[in-house]
Amino acid sequence: MRLVIENTPKDVARRAAAYIVAQIKAKAEYTSSPFVLGLPTGSTPLETYKELIRLHKAGEVSFRNVITFNMDEYVGLPEEHPESYHSFMWNNFFSHVDIKPENVNILNGNAPDLAKECADYEARIAETGGIDLFMGGVGEDGHIAFNEPFSSLSSRTREKALTQDTIIVNSRFFGGDISLVPKTALTVGVGTVLSAKRVLILATGAKKARAVRHGVEGAYCHQWTISALQVHPNGILICDDDAAGELRVATYRYFKDIEGHNPLTK
Ligand code: GLP
Repeated sequence: MRLVIENTPKDVARRAAAYIVAQIKAKAEYTSSPFVLGLPTGSTPLETYKELIRLHKAGEVSFRNVITFNMDEYVGLPEEHPESYHSFMWNNFFSHVDIKPENVNILNGNAPDLAKECADYEARIAETGGIDLFMGGVGEDGHIAFNEPFSSLSSRTREKALTQDTIIVNSRFFGGDISLVPKTALTVGVGTVLSAKRVLILATGAKKARAVRHGVEGAYCHQWTISALQVHPNGILICDDDAAGELRVATYRYFKDIEGHNPLTK
C-alpha cells in the first residue's frame, strides 16, 4: 500500500482531488466508457469535495461521464432529512458539478426490501464494469464505510448495526442526541471496496491516528477493517501529519522518503 503524508487537511484534499481528476482524465484517454467513482460522506472528504468543485469550475474536470456509487446510507432516515447521506452528497458535491442525476447511485435506506436493495446495488456496480476508484474515510475505530470492527473482510453490500461508539461519534450531526442517530445502515462491504481497481482512503486529525497506525503497521485483521487496504494491489492512504502521529518514526520516514521520490499522480 502507499501512504502519502501531507502537512494539513487542506493538503490532503488537494492531493486527493488531483489524483481523482488525473484518474478520470487517464481513463477518458483510452475509452469513452464512464469513469466509475465510489464516494464517502463524513467531515473528512468535505475539503476534497470543495477542491473537486473548484477544479470543475476552473474547467479542469467534468463529471458528465462519471457514474458514482456512495458507500453507505442510514436505514430509516428520510432521504430529505438534512443528515441523510443523500442530502449530504447533493448539498456538498453533486449540486455543484455537472454530474447527470441518473448517474448518481446511493443506497436507499428506506427500501421495502433492504436485502434486495443491497443485492441490486452490487449488481448495478457489476453492470458498470466495476468501480475504478473508491474514495473513503475512516472511523476512529478503523471502520471503512460502515464496516464496523469484526466485519468480514470479504463482506458485500448489506445492512449493518452501528456500534455504540459510532452512534456517539455521529450524534454530533444530530444535535448531540444519541437517540436520533439511526441504529443501522446499509453499507458496501469490505469486499466491495476491495473489488475496486483503486482504493483511496483519507484520514485527518489526531483522532484518526490510532486507526492509521493499525491500518498501516497492524496486522491484516477484521478488528480494524481499514487494514484490508494492505491486501489491495492499488491501496492508497493519504493522511495529514496529525493522523500520522502514532506511526513509528521509521515508518513515517520510510513513506516520506519513498513518496517524496514518486509523487502520487498515477
Ligand atoms: C461514518 C461514515 C464513514 C466515515 C466515518 C468517518 O461512519 N460511514 O464512511 O469514513 O464516518 O467520518 P469523519 O470523516 O466525519 O470522521
